[in-house]
Amino acid sequence: MQATPAVSTSAERASLADAILPGLLSSPKFTPHWYNYDSRGSELYMIAATENPFYHVFRVETALLQDNAGDIISSYDGTVRLVDLGAGNCVKPKILIDMLLKKTGTCSFYPVDIAQEFVEENARRLMADCKGLSVHPIAGENQNSLKFMQSVSGTKLITHFGNSFSTIPMNEMATFLRTVWETISEPEDRYLVGIDLNQDENAVRQAYTHGSWVDFNFNVLNRLNRDFRADFKEKNFDYCFKYVVDEREICNIKRPEFVTAGLRSKCDQIVHLGKIYMHLQ
Ligand SMILES: C[S@@+](CC[C@H](N)C(=O)[O-])C[C@H]1O[C@@H](n2cnc3c(N)ncnc32)[C@H](O)[C@@H]1O
Repeated sequence: MQATPAVSTSAERASLADAILPGLLSSPKFTPHWYNYDSRGSELYMIAATENPFYHVFRVETALLQDNAGDIISSYDGTVRLVDLGAGNCVKPKILIDMLLKKTGTCSFYPVDIAQEFVEENARRLMADCKGLSVHPIAGENQNSLKFMQSVSGTKLITHFGNSFSTIPMNEMATFLRTVWETISEPEDRYLVGIDLNQDENAVRQAYTHGSWVDFNFNVLNRLNRDFRADFKEKNFDYCFKYVVDEREICNIKRPEFVTAGLRSKCDQIVHLGKIYMHLQ
């Protein structure tokens, strides 16, 4: 496995406190989506995505890739730089890697993930499993990692699976897409993104109220307690889920439906973050 220069995360750009505290001090309170994914959060996500019988995105996207991997890589002859954003356990890019290795005998894989230990462990496993593959794990945020990839020459296939695209905040979307555009600068370069369709509300509700999603969401309290010497108590919070239907239309296009999921304080409570005191209602 080849070392890839560290790519700074937004948490490193500022400090972790600078990235998290504004959300905790606002009303309603929030943490950025990426903060859910420490190593334990990534493990819990994988359990929620693969062992929750009502969550179909992982299974459907994997099957689509298995059925279409040949077409997706058909135009490539030489070494491809496969960059998977938010790579997680790398199961999906592995389908493309196997196909590329079969066709060209070589592939350079750049799994990008904010969860450093998780991405490095999965990269090591892939290196051991796949002959002809070079792996360059990038522990960092997608957007900064794309900027880093702009300095790497050669044909690039950038992939983005697991509905992660839909979690990019609307006010960051244009900048993100511009960065993708600037990274796929050669005629052969491609960006392949998986986006879920609107689904039946009951099916979505069953998927996101399954215990595995609840565990994934509660993990953020453990992370806050660890990162900030805080004393959040799970028993003081409920998991809440909302299926949002937005009837507004933009440019005659009906906006997609989406879900919000998170934690709600059950009571009036004081939480300490090291020396910082917060009042939650
Ligand atoms: C929804 S999971 C998808 C995992 C995998 N791609 C899949 O399809 O199963 C999102 C992954 O992206 C990572 N992640 C979340 N926000 C990120 C960000 N801003 N930059 C890089 N990785 C991020 C998480 O650690 C997690 O592994």
